Amino acid sequence: MSNRTVGVLLSRVRVEEKLLLEELERRGVATKVIDDRELVLALEKKPELGVDVVLERCIQHSRALYALSVLEMWGIPTVNTFEVADVCGNKLLTTMRLIRDGVPSPRTRLAFTPEAALAAVEELGYPAVLKPLVGSWGRLLSKVNDRDAAESILEHKDVLGTYIHSIYYIQEYVSKPGRDIRAFVVGDETIGAIYRYSDHWITNTARGGKATKCEVTPELDDLCVRAAKAVGGGVVAIDVFEGQEGLLVNEVNYTMEFRNSIDTTGVNIPGRVVDYALKVAER
Ligand SMILES: Nc1ncnc2c1ncn2[C@@H]1O[C@H](COP(=O)(O)OP(=O)(O)O)[C@@H](O)[C@H]1O
Ligand SMILES: [Mg+2]
Repeated sequence: MSNRTVGVLLSRVRVEEKLLLEELERRGVATKVIDDRELVLALEKKPELGVDVVLERCIQHSRALYALSVLEMWGIPTVNTFEVADVCGNKLLTTMRLIRDGVPSPRTRLAFTPEAALAAVEELGYPAVLKPLVGSWGRLLSKVNDRDAAESILEHKDVLGTYIHSIYYIQEYVSKPGRDIRAFVVGDETIGAIYRYSDHWITNTARGGKATKCEVTPELDDLCVRAAKAVGGGVVAIDVFEGQEGLLVNEVNYTMEFRNSIDTTGVNIPGRVVDYALKVAER
């Protein structure tokens, strides 16, 4: 049994947080729940938080990011690190890390004006995919099938969007076989994976995608571990596409949801996350 204290930083006890807290309790690990809605961080002086590691489970990327930056400055170990949250919370930064480390990913363009974005879409060809840099659950993703749609989406973003929507992240559309892969990496191991099937081009389970088990082949393991390392390593979930020429990493998620994947994979995912957090606490 560990004599360490684990802080769990959360916004709300969702299914995932409940499972993590139950896992900690089952093992008799001292646990401190930190609610991000009540949190006030007095920045001048590191407080006695009384925790050896913080497991970050915020719903909002911005809260996670800034809390992690302060905890890191104070020298409190976190799962995940500020670096991982910063990179994974931003699709551009993630793509750049994947490219830096030679991890295959869909062809992507960055542009700053609607005109340049339209040129990038035309160069990639139709359909193309436009994504906000920050976001999840498939929100505000656009599959642009022709020039009329491209012009309209770009004008809407320009006129109605906040400034973040005028940073244009444009990607080739990868023709998937009605599914994609979601793989879970803890440390340097891919602990399990699921296929997400959907009739819709957006396969997120949060949008109704159906999960079945996906075997972790050595190829998938190698790809996912490299993707995890590229963003800084830790506990992450990787979106993988089965492209015509092989596997492509779409994105890496750092506060992963896993409620639909425990029974499907047969892996005690919260147990593995707790193991990892305790290992970080021992360092
Ligand atoms: N370039 C693409 N080609 C084909 N499908 C895509 C592409 N980008 C995203 N998708 C589909 O949309 C889903 C959500 O996209 P993703 O980039 O993972 O955003 P989110 O952060 O919202 O999950 C993916 O899991 C996939 O099913
Ligand atoms: Mg995704």
